[in-house]
Amino acid sequence: MDKYPPSGCRVTSKMAVNVVVGGFFGDEGKGKIISYLALKDEVAATVRGGVGPNAGHTVIYEGKSYKLRMLPSGLVNEYSRLMIGPGVLVNPTVLLDEVNRYGVGSRLTVDPRCAVIEQKHVASDSQGHLKEKVGTTGTGTGPANSDRVLRVGRQIKDVEEMSKFLGDVPFEVNQIVDAGQPLLVEGTQGTFLSLYFGGYPYVTSKDVCASATCSDVGLGPRKVDEVIVVFKAYVTRVGGGPLKGELSEEETARRGWREVGTVTGRSRRAAPFDFDLAKRAVMLNSASQISVTKLDVVFPECAGVKQYEDLSGEAKKFISGIEKETGVPVTLIGTGAEVFDTIDRREEFE
Ligand code: IMP
Ligand code: MG
Repeated sequence: MDKYPPSGCRVTSKMAVNVVVGGFFGDEGKGKIISYLALKDEVAATVRGGVGPNAGHTVIYEGKSYKLRMLPSGLVNEYSRLMIGPGVLVNPTVLLDEVNRYGVGSRLTVDPRCAVIEQKHVASDSQGHLKEKVGTTGTGTGPANSDRVLRVGRQIKDVEEMSKFLGDVPFEVNQIVDAGQPLLVEGTQGTFLSLYFGGYPYVTSKDVCASATCSDVGLGPRKVDEVIVVFKAYVTRVGGGPLKGELSEEETARRGWREVGTVTGRSRRAAPFDFDLAKRAVMLNSASQISVTKLDVVFPECAGVKQYEDLSGEAKKFISGIEKETGVPVTLIGTGAEVFDTIDRREEFE
């Protein structure tokens, strides 16, 4: 069988600066892939870009489940640093709760320029057109970004309880990269929730593609080695806006694709994998690698598989179909919820 992508595709897996972003509408399983890379690549730090606590990343490692809205998903590597870039909105209550729950305060640096989500932002995000029409997560991110742009917002440097975590994140990030150490840049949401590239107004409050995520943490475009776009093996969406091929609730349940939102508890809408969206996400993010998660949900016989060769013929056909359509190698494949339920093919493409 022809090998796709063509042999000219090369990836870097060691000592790299990896940017990980979502390729559909969020909830692609970025948290699982980021936690895998943080452990496997022994990263110096995971730095969080993206919007803010509207994100919900789930990480399952050594029998423990982590639900993260503010902390980077790389936290399971206890030797790595955790950072939050200045582009990110911080809700101090949510962040402090996670810091205390997981005991990672000594490893955390929050940039003092992060904007603050206040109670009034949460209140206005939970009513009117944001709730009724857009169907936001109600976490205050849109109104807080709005205040930030109007130059009436608050910065985290003015929040007393945060003082011990503050540090110059762009400087620290660039020092790590310039020293040749591995770094993970963690995005949130998904390409088609981007304020610029999604179906406005059914979008989040800023761009969330790879270049924006780098900008959030103060990393210029020449310093990135790999851009990994994460797709789930099917598509889900919460809130308003179009979803091509949307299944009925019954069909979603019959296929075992029913999911409930980490942050909102809302039931997710579902549709089959969308090759057109995947191609466009690859273009918008200049993806050099693709990760496909939850392959075991679509192909149950693949649950827990760790080697590509051991996947079923149907599953391999699905993966190579994605490579043919996009021209980008599928290097990381999720076959279960646990961090190491992952097929890592990066060396094959080195
Ligand atoms: P906001 O980001 O809370 O303003 O919500 C805008 C749109 O993005 C709504 O459709 C939300 O459901 C969606 N959204 C925001 N964050 C996430 C996420 O982390 N996963 C999935 N959907 C999200
Ligand atoms: Mg999520």
